[in-house]
Amino acid sequence: MNVIASKKMSLFEPAIFSNLKSYAKQQEEKNGINLIDLSLGSPDIPPHDMLLQSMSELSKQPFSYGYTLTGSNEFNQAVARYYLRVNKVKLDSETEIVQTIGSQEGLVHLPLAFCDPGDYVLTTNPGYVAYAAGITLAGAVPYYIPLDEMNGFLPDLKAIPEDIAEKAKLLILNMPGNPVPMSPSIEYFLEVVEFAKKYNIIVLHDAAYSEFYFTGDAPISFLAVPGAKEVGLEINSLSKSFSLAGARVAYIAGNAEMIAIIKQLKSNLDFGIFDPIQKTAALALDHAEEITAPLRRTFAKRHATLMHGLQELGWEVAPSSGGMFVWAKYPYNIDSVSFAYKVIEQTGVLMVPGTAFGTEGEGFVRLALVQNAERLQEAVRRLKSLSL
Ligand SMILES: Cc1ncc(COP(=O)(O)O)c(C=O)c1O
Repeated sequence: MNVIASKKMSLFEPAIFSNLKSYAKQQEEKNGINLIDLSLGSPDIPPHDMLLQSMSELSKQPFSYGYTLTGSNEFNQAVARYYLRVNKVKLDSETEIVQTIGSQEGLVHLPLAFCDPGDYVLTTNPGYVAYAAGITLAGAVPYYIPLDEMNGFLPDLKAIPEDIAEKAKLLILNMPGNPVPMSPSIEYFLEVVEFAKKYNIIVLHDAAYSEFYFTGDAPISFLAVPGAKEVGLEINSLSKSFSLAGARVAYIAGNAEMIAIIKQLKSNLDFGIFDPIQKTAALALDHAEEITAPLRRTFAKRHATLMHGLQELGWEVAPSSGGMFVWAKYPYNIDSVSFAYKVIEQTGVLMVPGTAFGTEGEGFVRLALVQNAERLQEAVRRLKSLSL
């Protein structure tokens, strides 16, 4: 049979992540290199015992295995309680929350709900890769706002040309960000709301790293800003904050009209999340403070270890008060993809080249804080011996 992929498939390039990983595996097998994998942001710390126990007990119940369709109100109510406690934001569990199968699923499908082919979507360069995939699926046109060091890596809305803003339907932001771990401020989000109202643009804020902060203050939720619910949505996930990445559970909260449209789309795409996962996720949200505080301490220590270690080697590390990554400019005159391969060959340390997240990532690499502090120190020791 002559199998021919659709024309659209040519827009979905194979991810650099998997190419790098298989190269690293080859090196490991051929040269016996002991890898230190700082590439994917998949939490290395197991979920809290309470969650493991809940999953194991609920999975044994024979009536847990039916379709759950749009999700249980029990989960949505837990999200509403969590938002009220943590963000001081009131949400209606029936109309202002929709569950998604991980935030990846929500992010990739959301543009389909609001964008017609040719509509513009504003997002950042560098930015998380799922945004571009969603824009492509919807046949929309991306406009990338460069994240500039001079601007504290905050997307400069004033630099967006007027004609592009007029044509834009959606703005996707992510703070604390991946790969650039800048954190939001109330002033910045107020500017976003004003911009969205002026040009009638829907805002989607991706808060996947909202529980990863290294200072005393949690990053502000977009929905906590006056006017935010009129213009947009926040998507959040239990993958990182509760070490539940493989369980695939997340949610979108905010504007009720927008949520209704997303629910309508999703009712055609999937039949919901495994009930024990929903119930365990609700339990996690109800115990968020207890579960996330130790994770935060661990990640703050890892962040300090890697940041200071790299700075001592002469690398420039983007300042951050949250997130799960270090975004670093290496002191070598080599492109970021070649650099990442050389680093694997010479040190066994696996990191992601900045250009995997957009052209503005050239000269940078992203290192995920997914190994303990001792392994991170070992990674820095190995990076010291690089010869390029
Ligand atoms: C910014 C951001 N958003 C969303 C996701 C997707 O996470 P999940 O689908 O596990 O919720 C990731 C994963 O790395 C991410 O970095």
